[in-house]
Amino acid sequence: MSDVRRAHSPEMNRRSFLTGVILWVSGIIAAIIGVPAIGYFVSPALKTSKGEKWIALGKLGDVAIKKPKAVNFQIAIKDGWINSELTETAFIVREDQSKYIVLSNQCTHLSCKVYWSDEKQVYICPCHNGIYDMEGGNISGPPPRPLDRYKTKLQDDQIFILVKG
Ligand code: FES
Repeated sequence: MSDVRRAHSPEMNRRSFLTGVILWVSGIIAAIIGVPAIGYFVSPALKTSKGEKWIALGKLGDVAIKKPKAVNFQIAIKDGWINSELTETAFIVREDQSKYIVLSNQCTHLSCKVYWSDEKQVYICPCHNGIYDMEGGNISGPPPRPLDRYKTKLQDDQIFILVKG
């Protein structure tokens, strides 16, 4: 049989067909295995922590009235494959026996950390001299709005704040 006749023979067509089927099935199997595997390795990079949780700051009874108390707390940060812990500070301000607020120490201008001055009875931002009153209201400087307040709850005299992380 000549080469030209063999090239168009039923055997050659069957071989081509089987090769095509094998390649097609192999491609589907590779996709079934490969897509989840790629997702498994890539998806952590796209994840960031977005949950909220309550964090205990301490007892209300331990906070003096009209004397802001700075309290440190930790929040877990998940950014892609990186898990880290961040220390933040909040101010508990007790207004009377039962009334209190919890303020962020982050300046609303460019997020520098404010501190409480016992002497001047204000929060001071060291970056551009933003000044806030005891409840976080603006007194002077560039900050565009009062200090942020945390959502709070009180359980058995324990103060909790709601934080993202
Ligand atoms: S960052 Fe606080 S005044 Fe600018």
